[in-house]
Amino acid sequence: MKVCLTRNIPGPAVRMLQNQGLEVSLSVRNRSLEPAELLEFVKGADALLCLLTDKIDAAVFTAAGSQLRIVSNLAVGFDNIDLAEASRRGIAVTNTPSPLITDAVAEHTLALILALAKKIVPADRFVREGKYHGWDPNLFLGPQLSGKTLGVVGLGRIGLVVARLAMLGLGMKIVYASANRKEDLETELEARFLSLSELLPVADFVSLHVPLTMETERLLTGEKIALMRKTAYLINTSRGSVVDEAALVAALKEGAIAGAALDVFEDESRPHPDLWSSPNVILTPHIASATIEAREEMGRIAAENIIAVLTGKKPLNPAFISQ
Ligand code: GLV
Repeated sequence: MKVCLTRNIPGPAVRMLQNQGLEVSLSVRNRSLEPAELLEFVKGADALLCLLTDKIDAAVFTAAGSQLRIVSNLAVGFDNIDLAEASRRGIAVTNTPSPLITDAVAEHTLALILALAKKIVPADRFVREGKYHGWDPNLFLGPQLSGKTLGVVGLGRIGLVVARLAMLGLGMKIVYASANRKEDLETELEARFLSLSELLPVADFVSLHVPLTMETERLLTGEKIALMRKTAYLINTSRGSVVDEAALVAALKEGAIAGAALDVFEDESRPHPDLWSSPNVILTPHIASATIEAREEMGRIAAENIIAVLTGKKPLNPAFISQ
């Protein structure tokens, strides 16, 4: 049986699949496949191991053929896959959730919060550009984190770890908005449950941890961004389309908020160019889960799901939204 892998990935996945006697067909392009290339590449696949950059829809299922049994997404998010169409065709869809990946993304989120508050990126540039000539009490003043309020939007697995790290590690106060209220966690985190519109005006840092769905697409419209404090920062390690990027760019330009740290973009192949020139913005290339450990684990989980389904068992990580 044939497994099509759309791009070379770290970790043991290929070896695991080959050890099961599966033929692994790896795309030779070493980049995201264009839609037409993807259609050509998946022909004859019994399983597809794909990335969040691959848009998997009815055309891909048809191009693969009726023998396709599973689409195993090397990601926690699966907004790139038409789940309804897969289910109509009886094709399993799986993702790669794991505590290692949750921790990796939460660590990156904390790194961004710290980097924003401590102005690490512009301060580093300042020294490298030869502008530092001795201690100056006015240089790069930023907000103290202890005692400040972190607004967590989406208190699922990742949002929860971010809240714990921020509260226990940094002494931040937690408020959260979530599809479901989590009263047990409110006690643990001393957190307040608020609507998004209530959260935005009280948070010093707003961190997004919702999956991209029809309900969360452009959750942060211009109007919502306008509710944030002038001194507040936005951190997005979820999906770019949760934010109206053009509205965010405008808010940053006008100084309506203090800054932003973004790991994800509305168009991942072309982050808004005005973001590059904004001094109060930190941009990372969708690397929140990029620890060696997490990426190996993702490959292992993706392979395990394929092996389970191709040997007649139930998928281990069927894709569904928990919030
Ligand atoms: C990364 O964004 C993921 O969904 O795993």
